[in-house]
Amino acid sequence: MLVTAEEMLKKAVAGKYAVGQFNINNLEWTKAILLTAQELNSPVILGVSEGAGKYMTGYKTVVGMVKGMIEELNITVPVALHLDHGTYDGCLKCIEAGFSSIMFDGSHYPIDENIAKTTELVKICKEKNMSLEAEVGSIGGEEDGVIGAGECADPNECKSIADLGVTMLAAGIGNIHGKYPANWQGLSFETLAGVKELTGDMPLVLHGGTGIPADMIKKAISLGVAKINVNTECQLAFQEATRKYIEAGKDLEGKGFDPRKLLAPGFEAIKATVKEKMELFGSVGKA
Ligand code: 13P
Repeated sequence: MLVTAEEMLKKAVAGKYAVGQFNINNLEWTKAILLTAQELNSPVILGVSEGAGKYMTGYKTVVGMVKGMIEELNITVPVALHLDHGTYDGCLKCIEAGFSSIMFDGSHYPIDENIAKTTELVKICKEKNMSLEAEVGSIGGEEDGVIGAGECADPNECKSIADLGVTMLAAGIGNIHGKYPANWQGLSFETLAGVKELTGDMPLVLHGGTGIPADMIKKAISLGVAKINVNTECQLAFQEATRKYIEAGKDLEGKGFDPRKLLAPGFEAIKATVKEKMELFGSVGKA
């Protein structure tokens, strides 16, 4: 069932668990995530970055694929289709294409501009019955081999954005995308507690879910995190399973290149990764 993320995240806040956002890149990714959510009776959010949207030929193709799979795989658990780190224009395109949820990443704008653009999108999302994620404090990550530290958001700025009527809020708390460097300082629970205090029941979003130790994930959930984004870990699992398959020479058995065989180990590896995360986040059985 394609739904907005609002209801599932309200329930997650009340039940003290988190719904996973797993980013999709192609058919295999999407199918693996949807089937795992259904098997575990868990709500799920499919994240689509602007780059992945382009790779899949555009947002309309993504909407068509996801809606088709929900119907043909008989997926009855709640599924939100969500733009990840959208630009303002990207958000408008996904609204038009039929996504059920968007993220506007205005964290790199001065706070007044972030507020102005987020305000516009709140209005549109309310009219269209869509959920909206906003961001304050940029999430670091690897760019050209240099790993930038994650910023810590200002709780007062978080309150200003939360009060606009967004559905969920990503606040930087020292988290970064991709692998964490050896000298990473860990999540700032002080920042998270400060944000939670000022934003009340607003579902908080933790980006950079790959490689955060389980105890930190649990503590973050206890402090109001209700949505956790995972991308790199699925990519690494897919890559490793495919590498092993190729090294075993199984794609060279005389029948030529068959993507259905070559991509099968990666598909299973994504299923296993998603299952492990849903169990850790506590969303199993919560559909
Ligand atoms: P990772 O790639 O670190 O798992 O982060 C995913 C994410 O936050 C997408 O927005």
